[in-house]
Amino acid sequence: MRVLITGGAGFIGSNLVHYLIRERPDWELVNLDVLTYAGNLENLAGLESNPRYTFVKADITDGDAVRAIFAEHKPDVVLHLAAESHVDRSILDSSAFIRTNVLGTQVLLDAARSLGTDTRFVHVSTDEVYGTLGADGKFTESTPLAPNSPYSASKAGSDCLVRAAHETFGMNTVITRCSNNYGPFQFPEKLIPLMIANARADKDLPVYGDGMQVRDWLYVEDHCSALLTVLEKGTAGEVYNIGGNNEWPNIEVVRLILKHLDKPESLIRYVQDRPGHDRRYAIDASKIHRELGWRPAYRFETALPATIEWYLEHGEWVERVQTGRYQEYYENQYGSRLSS
Ligand code: NAD
Ligand code: TYD
Repeated sequence: MRVLITGGAGFIGSNLVHYLIRERPDWELVNLDVLTYAGNLENLAGLESNPRYTFVKADITDGDAVRAIFAEHKPDVVLHLAAESHVDRSILDSSAFIRTNVLGTQVLLDAARSLGTDTRFVHVSTDEVYGTLGADGKFTESTPLAPNSPYSASKAGSDCLVRAAHETFGMNTVITRCSNNYGPFQFPEKLIPLMIANARADKDLPVYGDGMQVRDWLYVEDHCSALLTVLEKGTAGEVYNIGGNNEWPNIEVVRLILKHLDKPESLIRYVQDRPGHDRRYAIDASKIHRELGWRPAYRFETALPATIEWYLEHGEWVERVQTGRYQEYYENQYGSRLSS
């Protein structure tokens, strides 16, 4: 099986590359990533010499480059994760979100179709396309799309293009919508790694609004196992929610981190709320349980402490991200090969 993964240098993508290399020893992986600020090849250090792994630096919005990559590698499966993914950045400037998330998805769909409509296209989306919940209820796959941020609007746009590719051209697509992930290699602009990094450095922990917004946290490896399940068993044209039934108010997550690090709650700073801040996300994942037999393997009570420990043990990784030095890795590893 030849698998092309987009965004494989990002948080979930790099965890997925490691997971697939381990779990599917006869698969070949091509990682297509343009290495934005969120792409970090250090996450994949050591794989450079693996004959089953190829890295290609390219932009998914560049039609010529994408077509050439598809023509060369002829993937049987596309796992599409590349995206601009941070809500706060989308509020500051949404143009890259529309370009990458919407246009990039269209370019990939067209390239995949050029190889044949049976090319499996797994589109990795988010529960944020459903908008926000009140105190009760959960998102199901038939909850109407009601995105509230430019990020989630751009992801909803990409979901619609994937749906249309199935309905119009009969493409072999599946869409997944997962809740918030945590685990190793997450860029420290997102809640959990940011709070760990700040607490460790005795800096303020900025909690938006009243801190009572609820997120449904899933360990990243559980997301990876769900994606593999959907890739192998999902029905073309279907949407699968992915979640771990694990809702926490933000302030409680922040308190757990402080407690684990033995740091005082006086580090918490309530700051101005995010505009359009979704109050609550909660996933009904009964469809993927029932139809595909997937279940999460990790529990928050143990995986969150393990994640905190990972960031403590990888202080250099965090520091290299914070100083920007991680961006030298590509040139160091691939620069000489490119010029030779
Ligand atoms: P991330 O921001 O950590 O990584 C995104 C990756 O995509 C980076 O490696 C970046 O270099 C690459 N990329 C961005 N623009 C590109 C372009 N134009 N061409 C090629 N590569 C490009 O994101 P993540 O948190 O790993 O999320 C991955 C996917 O999963 C996204 O599609 C996101 O919407 C979805 N998702 C994320 C979460 C979460 O909690 N992080 C939850 C549900 C769904
Ligand atoms: P984030 O990790 O950005 O994910 P998303 O917005 O996609 O859910 O944020 C998770 C929650 O934490 C969200 O409700 C916003 C909140 N948050 C803070 O309170 N402070 C912060 O500094 C950040 C980054 C997020």
